[in-house]
Amino acid sequence: MPLFRKAAEQTPEVDFTRLPRHIAIIMDGNGRWAKRRGLPRTAGHAAGAETFRTIATYCKEIGLDYLTVYAFSTENWKRPEEEVSSIMTLLKKYLLEAIDRMERDRVKMAFFGDLTPLTPELRELCERTREISKHYEGCQVNICLNYGGRDEITRAVRQLAEECVKEGRSPDSIAERDISDRLFSAGVPDPDLIIRPSGEVRTSNFLLWQSAYSEYYFTDVLWPDFSKEELHKAIASYQKRSRRFGGV
Ligand code: FPP
Repeated sequence: MPLFRKAAEQTPEVDFTRLPRHIAIIMDGNGRWAKRRGLPRTAGHAAGAETFRTIATYCKEIGLDYLTVYAFSTENWKRPEEEVSSIMTLLKKYLLEAIDRMERDRVKMAFFGDLTPLTPELRELCERTREISKHYEGCQVNICLNYGGRDEITRAVRQLAEECVKEGRSPDSIAERDISDRLFSAGVPDPDLIIRPSGEVRTSNFLLWQSAYSEYYFTDVLWPDFSKEELHKAIASYQKRSRRFGGV
């Protein structure tokens, strides 16, 4: 039985033949999840990393084309050193496992963000993961690392300004497409659905340019408690919306 039929029987309200092409997730609420259990924040991130594994695997199973997750923002460096280091350790662990399972999972991986401030080891792991998986077809998982929407747009604009100066290109020739093509997400379609768990209702510098016409789904569930069923609810809600992209 095709996998989407099996899943559809469990959750009738989701039409698995009409999935959004690209889902993006702000993995929020790890700290509060840990606090409620009297655990250190780092335990919340560890639980969040597990949820990410489950959701990424499931997205591949149901045939989603793109999943983008916000793992570490340009602002997250302000957190205590211990917390930053624990997130980096979780990433390293995840990437090592992903490389190990790559042939079996065949998930294409990409990274959005400036990886320069990461340790050489982590940068090398990101590069290796990207390189090994670049020919895989099916689901592409984009991990946003040291990512900020404003930073991403600033870089694109800076690059264009340099081109205008060096190549004598006229600023009048700059079109929206020129910006899109210089973002970390170049070549990836804009997210159709952006999910933010944990009850916070803001974008937090996530995919600012790409989210112009994205549908948002907010839930109070904390990221470590987010499940396939929660994903079904988000997709079902998305499927009830009427997307007009500024038209009627
Ligand atoms: C936001 O929750 C979460 C983060 C800043 C880190 C997300 C990182 C992971 C899920 C682990 C590593 C990722 C991968 C891809 C393996 P918060 O800490 O702001 O939660 P709070 O608002 O409840 O404090």
